[in-house]
Amino acid sequence: MDKLVIEGNNRLKGEVVVSGAKNAALPIMAATLLTDQPCVIKGVPSLRDTNTMLKILRSLGKDAEFDKGTVRIARGKDTGSFADYKLVSTMRASFCVLGPLLGKLKKAKVSLPGGCVIGVRPVDLHLKGLKALGAEISIEAGYVNASAPKLKGNSMYLGGVYGSSVLATDNVMMAATLARGKTIIESAACEPEVADLAEFLIKMGAKIKGHGTPTIEIEGVKELHGAEHQIIPDRIESGTWILASLITNGDIRIKNCCLSHLGALVDKLQEAGALLTKTDGTVRARLRTKLKPVNVSTLPYPGFPTDMQAQIMSLMTVTPGISVITEKIYPDRFMHVAELNRMGAHILREGPHAIVEGIKNLSGAPVMASDLRASACLVLAGLAAKGTTAISRIYHLERGYENIEQKMQGLGAKVWREKE
Ligand code: UD1
Repeated sequence: MDKLVIEGNNRLKGEVVVSGAKNAALPIMAATLLTDQPCVIKGVPSLRDTNTMLKILRSLGKDAEFDKGTVRIARGKDTGSFADYKLVSTMRASFCVLGPLLGKLKKAKVSLPGGCVIGVRPVDLHLKGLKALGAEISIEAGYVNASAPKLKGNSMYLGGVYGSSVLATDNVMMAATLARGKTIIESAACEPEVADLAEFLIKMGAKIKGHGTPTIEIEGVKELHGAEHQIIPDRIESGTWILASLITNGDIRIKNCCLSHLGALVDKLQEAGALLTKTDGTVRARLRTKLKPVNVSTLPYPGFPTDMQAQIMSLMTVTPGISVITEKIYPDRFMHVAELNRMGAHILREGPHAIVEGIKNLSGAPVMASDLRASACLVLAGLAAKGTTAISRIYHLERGYENIEQKMQGLGAKVWREKE
């Protein structure tokens, strides 16, 4: 296993190009199960998670190739409807093969994804939505067995205790494209990645309206055809580079960055003292004034993304004053707090709140990554800290950030990989 070593306290400067959005690419790759015709998806990041999805698609009988950011998927020899525990358990997004398999093959057996370090992560909303379309579902030995000889459109409310669900909306929307009649999903997730999936489905011949809003309408069609699509930029990667610039008092220009997908983050960062300017599709991020503390509450889109919570906490650890960070999507998503405190941060966790008292400097330390976004937060902390930070278990980082080491080096960061 490798660890990432960072010699911090170094201003990052220069240009970086954001990769395609992992969370859009994964369900879009799964959506190709809805057709036997070839599909081409461009701008797919080369990551552990996209590689896992390729393996799952192959295990379901697709020919799937990846070459320089382009995924080509075509019908293989035998189509299958069984998604194995070994693959699904490594990545929660694998569960979004359930909807398309059910839509196309009228049956599916997909392993339950299980919980993970950021929380329990149930799938009740996925199953509720698919049942509303007429699927019969049973759970046996850790697998969801679903069958639906005739999927029928229906109206449903898909909100849960923590609001809408991204992958449940994806799963139900995909199944509904091939159901008979009209489906209306109320309290649908509005995330740009859900809207991007809908755009791909529309290119495949689906009839969808209202994507990107809490009410999505899908008029079922008989079949879908092959399509070509370009994945939207990764808003979480973009946000992470903006924070890398601010936390190092740097000056980074970010290409392929869609600020309109980052409204809540931009608003908070402007309040905190950031200057974000956009020219010719490039966003320049730097400090306008001295950093000021901000209070943040995570919410479903367009609210502040839970996937940026850990990273903004890093910034607040070196911002004078007190900030309160409240996690409303995954109340236990605070594994990074203890690690930041090992670097000298003053953070007190109180239920779903983290109270951060900003200090002048973090100090480098050996720390451990617990999940994808917690790893990004430790990278940011390491970039800002005085001394050397060694982050172990960086395979988490590789699940979501393409070429992050090379991209940081291109910005002048002193960062390298070592064997544990
Ligand atoms: C997606 C993202 C993930 C992000 C999360 C929230 C992908 C591949 N992953 O995950 O990076 O952190 O959205 O923005 O797109 N819930 C239920 N029942 C369900 C499903 C979810 O109660 O059936 C709860 C979850 O436990 C959580 C909340 O709903 O509290 C939101 O989760 P959800 O949007 O489903 O997350 P994912 O789609 O798994």
